[in-house]
Amino acid sequence: MEKREMIYEGKAKQIYSTSANDQVIVHFKDDATAFDGQKKDQITGKGKINNKISNFFFKLLEDNGIKTHLIKELSANEVLVKKVGIIPVEVVMRNIVAGSLSKRLGIKEGEVLDKPVLEYYYKDDDLGDPLINNSHIEVLKLATETDLEEINKMTFKINKILKEFLRERVIDLVDFKLEFGYLDDGEIILADEISPDTCRFWDSNTREKLDKDRFRRDLGDVEEAYQEMLKRITGRGEL
Ligand code: C5P
Repeated sequence: MEKREMIYEGKAKQIYSTSANDQVIVHFKDDATAFDGQKKDQITGKGKINNKISNFFFKLLEDNGIKTHLIKELSANEVLVKKVGIIPVEVVMRNIVAGSLSKRLGIKEGEVLDKPVLEYYYKDDDLGDPLINNSHIEVLKLATETDLEEINKMTFKINKILKEFLRERVIDLVDFKLEFGYLDDGEIILADEISPDTCRFWDSNTREKLDKDRFRRDLGDVEEAYQEMLKRITGRGEL
């Protein structure tokens, strides 16, 4: 398997084609953006940390019966994954109120939800990723009703696995965003990443934020927080 040309560049990742037409390489960048790209910076070491954390979580999920795109970690910043047709829906699950849920519904940040809240956002930069519901998804033909049911089932299961794993590491899984994709045979698998860029992690005792909110809200020590998450998850510190 040989690395070929870059076929896509997003805010935090680049995708390269390979000599195998059903596999691509994901390269995690140090670039950080927030508020639809209006706030931009570089966070030293972020690419490497997110690659490690995301691969760790994907492996954990695979071990617990969730099909993912993960094939193998290739280097500090790169991972080999199965090529998928990404479903343009960002699936967000929330256990504790924060971020846009707090703003939209006027509920105080930090309130623990009675049960997980599931949301969908239409993945479209020009529209600013608007909140959508299952009717929109059907009408826009983003996914069929059956496929959406499968995505929902996987999301609840992923939440349970991650929440329990993190609880033992004294981390509250506040919320997270997932992306799914289709393999050529129509099977739905988990794609994209699971990292402090795409989740909110709070220390269960101090409620210290160990995720991208440190960057969004100028709280400082962004790299340190990402390193701390890596340490809590893998038991290993500096890369
Ligand atoms: O901003 P909001 O509260 O809606 O974010 C919910 C969760 O989804 C957070 O963990 C955030 O990091 C993640 N998210 C993401 N990519 C987006 C929007 C939200 O990873 N485009």
